[in-house]
Amino acid sequence: MTTAAEAVSVLRASAVRGRTGVVVFDTVGAFTAALDEARTGGAAVGLVPTMGSLHAGHASLISRARAECDVVAVTVFVNPTQFDDVADLAAYPRDPDGDVELAGSAGADMVLMPAVEEVYPEGSATVVSLPSLSGSFEGESRPGHFDGVATVVAKLFAMTGRCRAYFGEKDYQQLALVRTMARDLCLPVEVIGCPTVRDADGLALSSRNARLSVEQRKAAPVLYRALLAGRRAIECGSRDRSAVESIMRGVIGQEPLARLDYAAAVDASDLSSPDELGGAVRLLVAARVGAVRLIDNLGTFATTPELAHPGRRQSVTTSPVAPQHRLDDERHPQ
Ligand code: PAJ
Repeated sequence: MTTAAEAVSVLRASAVRGRTGVVVFDTVGAFTAALDEARTGGAAVGLVPTMGSLHAGHASLISRARAECDVVAVTVFVNPTQFDDVADLAAYPRDPDGDVELAGSAGADMVLMPAVEEVYPEGSATVVSLPSLSGSFEGESRPGHFDGVATVVAKLFAMTGRCRAYFGEKDYQQLALVRTMARDLCLPVEVIGCPTVRDADGLALSSRNARLSVEQRKAAPVLYRALLAGRRAIECGSRDRSAVESIMRGVIGQEPLARLDYAAAVDASDLSSPDELGGAVRLLVAARVGAVRLIDNLGTFATTPELAHPGRRQSVTTSPVAPQHRLDDERHPQ
């Protein structure tokens, strides 16, 4: 039996290498075989699924996987089935050389960059769907989007095999969906949520930010300011969901370049919308700045009477989403 370190060195010797030593695969078969071999040698595998055009937000997921796993695999695949608009798919930025470079520098051992036919062989007929998590928020404005995400992530999990998979809290609804899917389908994957990486003015990093004009870029942090205002209201004692939502809407309404899509305060575990907020809450916003649709979210905690009186016992949710949620800013009220 080889050790995990030996398995990694076998992997490193086995295919085309990028400049940083990262091994690049374009076929699923070779990717899966290399990971099977690494696991046989005892290696723990970390997976970071992406659509490329990598930035520091993606790099944070790769670095976290590097710190926690023996072999780190990044997938770069612009998944056509999750785009409801062909123009959006065509405009999606692509930079394969830059991606290999950044993935390698952040600590990836291997990158899979498959063609569409590798992921969706001719005659593909299977769609993975989670209706209860797909119809609201992002799903409402992007019909079919989450079916595409769930389907491709299920495929990427199948190609990778047993692993820990790292996803950003930046796409909170996606994280909830993927976590639920992995549990429901009994996939041998531990889904790990990672904090949102932001620019200094609070704008969450996104490959879409590059499409903002200088003026629009200045306006874009209004999403984060709206989230902070919503969180402040909750911290100051507001438990009325619609009041918190209207505070967030008000902040975005003050920015002439932003057009609000939604501002919501939801239960962090199942994304439901109780009239009265309690426990772990997630604030979600989406707005268009010019033609660019931006999303962001922030976690906070609406203290319940039980928590305010630590002598009383508090029941703990066993939701697949809540326990691993970390708040993506400096405050950790839990
Ligand atoms: P993509 O948008 O490339 O994002 C890949 C991963 O990076 C996701 O888990 C996303 O949440 C995370 N991410 C993006 N911006 C981030 C930021 N500023 N801070 C922290 N993490 C960030 O999400 C997708 O691709 C696709 O839907 C995918 C899951 C790959 C399926 O096609």
